[in-house]
Amino acid sequence: MRVIVTEDYEQMSKRSANIVAAQVFIKPDSVLGLATGSTVLGLYNELIKMYKEKDLDFKETKTFNLDEYIGLSKDNPNSYYFYMMNNFFKFINIDESNINIPDGKALDIKKECEEYERKIKEENGIDLQILGIGRNGHIGFNEPDVKFEATTHKVSLDEKTVKDNSRFFSDINKVPRYAISMGIKTIMLTKKIILLANGKEKAKAINKAINGPITPDTPASILQLHQDVTFIIDREASYYLDK
Ligand code: F6R
Repeated sequence: MRVIVTEDYEQMSKRSANIVAAQVFIKPDSVLGLATGSTVLGLYNELIKMYKEKDLDFKETKTFNLDEYIGLSKDNPNSYYFYMMNNFFKFINIDESNINIPDGKALDIKKECEEYERKIKEENGIDLQILGIGRNGHIGFNEPDVKFEATTHKVSLDEKTVKDNSRFFSDINKVPRYAISMGIKTIMLTKKIILLANGKEKAKAINKAINGPITPDTPASILQLHQDVTFIIDREASYYLDK
């Protein structure tokens, strides 16, 4: 495990964008695993800049998103499909047929999860996975639990997550309580992982993930066992690391 501590959010975004860009340069048909949320917005903006400056080409790149809310349609501004389109995909030259996001409106959620796993396998797995982290240590929507959920599955969102994510909704009661998420095994099978975090509110989760026991109560702690993971965090998120 490597830990890169940057001065601020901007540097965190630039460092991680350079890693994603290098991946796409070296292997233009890379399979990227993508996250949503506030942390990764700066990274997407940096990648869009590189694309506009003609330093990057996403024509052959394939993507799999970590998660999606159950019950929200693609055109719902709170769906992760909408987020990805409006914060990243519509600004780059990715082929729409190479974009994969779980369908939160699927009639058969179990089948949708199995199908998602099958598609990832068909692409020979994910080359580079981008992760954020929840204040409760979640990755994707793998919430603190008594066991690690292996593959893509339906999750019931933790109260802390519902509260955190309610900032994007007009009313906390509108936050979906369920989501589809890649599982821990799906994430652990990715070839390379970068986890981004910024701000003091993530500092405890970061410390537990890096220095704590490996436990499903802090899902990100499993990353200690991954062969190629880099945490790229700003100084505030590193607050407890050397305490
Ligand atoms: C979203 C996801 C989540 C977020 C995490 C951090 O696709 O997988 O694990 O990465 O909740 O969210 P922000 O960045 O909004 O603090």
